[in-house]
Amino acid sequence: MLASKRILLIIGGGIAAYKTLDLIRRLRERGAAVTPVLTPAAEEFVTPLSVSALAGEKAYRDLFDLTDEAEMGHIQLSRSADLVVVAPATADLMGKMTAGLANDLASTLLMATDTPVLVAPAMNVRMWQHPATRRNRDQLARDGIRFVGPNEGDMACGEYGPGRMAEPLEIVAAVEKALGDGPLKGRRILVTSGPTHEPIDPVRYIANRSSGAQGTAVASALAALGAEVIFVSGPASVPPPQGVHVVRVESAREMDAAVDAALPVDAGVFAAAVADWRVASASDRKLKKSKDGLPELEFAENPDILKRVSRLEQGRPKLVVGFAAETNDVVENATAKRLRKGCDWIVANDVSPATGIMGGSENAVILISDSGAEEWPRMGKDQVAERLALRIAEALGRAGS
Ligand code: CTP
Repeated sequence: MLASKRILLIIGGGIAAYKTLDLIRRLRERGAAVTPVLTPAAEEFVTPLSVSALAGEKAYRDLFDLTDEAEMGHIQLSRSADLVVVAPATADLMGKMTAGLANDLASTLLMATDTPVLVAPAMNVRMWQHPATRRNRDQLARDGIRFVGPNEGDMACGEYGPGRMAEPLEIVAAVEKALGDGPLKGRRILVTSGPTHEPIDPVRYIANRSSGAQGTAVASALAALGAEVIFVSGPASVPPPQGVHVVRVESAREMDAAVDAALPVDAGVFAAAVADWRVASASDRKLKKSKDGLPELEFAENPDILKRVSRLEQGRPKLVVGFAAETNDVVENATAKRLRKGCDWIVANDVSPATGIMGGSENAVILISDSGAEEWPRMGKDQVAERLALRIAEALGRAGS
């Protein structure tokens, strides 16, 4: 049931827009309120009158409508929903979302929203298979956008293949899932991600090669299962996912403080590549070349965040998951690391350059727990994240509330 849920439904300009009329009915039958928005191209396929009559609400169309702005500004409109659904999502709309364009009401709402977004693509098979669309889909998924479909089948244009919009009831099921009726509903989970930057002086810092991709994927997968996710991220090169609470930090000590502030949580996933050392006394002025020789940097040890949280006597999360990036003897090193840190699981991976894992899109992990080492096949970082999120849901389910 979707009682008291509000859906902002963005209708793109494709022939599948006719199915969206049925989608509105199905959503309303389940108790959801639907606020419809049409792109100018959508109006070529369905009329604002039929959309609005079925939704029982005004159909929004124009970014620069003075009456609309006075009644409910576009920013407020973008934030008033529990979920934004884009159906049909055309190649053009997906391209705009990926590029961050905002030149009409639909694309502006998608840029301004802070609620989760579910996309139901629909387009000609060649357009779906085009490298540009594939890139856009992958990037949107990395940004935390959820997808339903497209399906394979006969298309209105007479071709056959993937590109048909998912059926209204499939979209309704995806809406129910996205609205957090997943197995992690009511669970609060902390995820650390990305590298840390440790300042040397105001313009230089010590960093590492972590992109934050795996931590971002884990946060997104946990949120997709209904968890409330606190995402503490160092300066990552990939953007944070939608639908999580983002806390941005720079250094290990800032990350430690942000983690502390996020507690208590049901589970903590420590995917960040935290610098082990910082410069003991970073200069507040830029270090200059001098005739007296090279500057001498003295190091101090950073707090070990994972170890501290794993060993908390009070308020320890029920499940603490660490990551281990190793270049050799992965299982031995990661098994020893699990015991040294005191965490429940270690997700270990081999980051030696030959694997292409660090900074890449795939991962091959070994899950180390008290029952031993479990090797997972090499797969996309998103799939690793989904599998890990499901395991976390199972473990928390066993641990009870
Ligand atoms: N970690 C942390 N705080 C630190 C260092 C690491 O929370 N100061 C966490 C990481 O997020 C990761 C795990 O500890 O989940 C292991 O990180 P890794 O860098 O592999 O471990 P180290 O403690 O640095 O061990 P070593 O240098 O011996 O490999």
